[in-house]
Amino acid sequence: MPGDVPIGIHDLSVATTQYVLTHRTLADRNGTDVGKYHKGIGLMSMSVPAADEDIVTMAATAAAPVVARHGADRIRTIVFATETSVDQSKAAGIHVHSLLSLPSAARVVELKQACYGGTAALQFALGVVHRNPAEQVLVIASDVSKYEMGEPGEATQGAAAVAMLVSAEPALVRVDEPSGVFTADITDFWRPNYRTTALVDGHESIAAYLQALEGAWKDYTERDGRKLDELSAICYHQPFTKMAYKAHRHLLQHCGHDVDEAEVTRAVGHTTGYNAVIGNSYTASLYLGLAALLDNSADLTGRSVGFLSYGSGSVAEFFAGTVMPGYRSHLRSEAHREAISRRLDIDYARYRAIHEHSFPVDGGDHFVPRETTGPYRFAGLSGHKRIYER
Ligand code: HMG
Repeated sequence: MPGDVPIGIHDLSVATTQYVLTHRTLADRNGTDVGKYHKGIGLMSMSVPAADEDIVTMAATAAAPVVARHGADRIRTIVFATETSVDQSKAAGIHVHSLLSLPSAARVVELKQACYGGTAALQFALGVVHRNPAEQVLVIASDVSKYEMGEPGEATQGAAAVAMLVSAEPALVRVDEPSGVFTADITDFWRPNYRTTALVDGHESIAAYLQALEGAWKDYTERDGRKLDELSAICYHQPFTKMAYKAHRHLLQHCGHDVDEAEVTRAVGHTTGYNAVIGNSYTASLYLGLAALLDNSADLTGRSVGFLSYGSGSVAEFFAGTVMPGYRSHLRSEAHREAISRRLDIDYARYRAIHEHSFPVDGGDHFVPRETTGPYRFAGLSGHKRIYER
């Protein structure tokens, strides 16, 4: 019976960009005390894509090792979550499907609800595997976070992709019932179709996140979810890493617990290592938190881990998973550290040029010189069509 089969995350792979801008460089340029970035919001650096990188190239880079390890015979569904879509109609996942030569007997779809989209994709995948446990689903969350230069959000930019293989008998994390969900119509962070940068009311967005956390937790507990002290760690959505600390303090208070800072660090400290140096990666951020936790904690076998997904607008979901025996031999810790350490430091002038770069939209041929040393690249536009190459 499908209902008896454990289902969850069988493999997890992270990719990011060619370049990195440190918060030290940003602080020196805009006259901000770097302590505000390092300590105040908990960010050290942010990933910056080269002109020939985007959500598709990061996604393909993250997914390729997953397909290489497991093959694609059982993958009939690819779900791509993003809020940095490259087309209003065609799913970005079709470009990934093509770059990775995935089977034509597959469905590919793109999902959006701000940073919550990655969790929507995971839930979609769990449903597909529940219906037929012989199938595997490739879930990809890939985003580039971009705000106007000089705005408070600028320090919380970043970019990354996470690819997850969802299957029965998962090697890493079983996703458990129930889920607590919450939706409220609020405009805390948004990006109209005519803009390349997001708009945000930063402080309102933090309040909206905490309200959504309360709502999702309430629904979760009403459905007999785990108690807070049964969770060994909680992966929170991390627009900046201090948000995870804020969220956990808020949840402790909401549940009537004293806020013990050692307890807060115990619950979230191991989830922030990748987000602190990559920045906000929107849909991927929560799962970068999981990658950091699995890669960098002491043995978590059999432990329960909580997940709080938040997407502005807003939708939140709280759920828990159980870390599977033997998970450590399936991790990609070395590759993740390499993806982060291989990035090239850029100065402010280079960052500014990349930030201001835009393609002509005249339908002509606009090719991009090779910049990325990654395995996939965006080669340019021709006749309004995007061209990718290996
Ligand atoms: P701000 O106004 O630049 O900063 O906005 P601040 O004045 O609030 O300071 C930030 C923290 O640094 C404060 O700590 C300061 O005290 C501290 P807190 O009171 O929060 O604990 N600080 C210092 N610490 C040490 N040394 C110093 C120093 N100076 C100050 N010298 C804000 C910050 C995050 C609002 C801004 O960066 C922003 O607007 N970011 C974008 C929006 C965002 O990330 N919102 C988060 C919740 S919404 C969300 O998560 C969804 C999202 O991912 C999108 C999606 O769903 O798709 C964004």
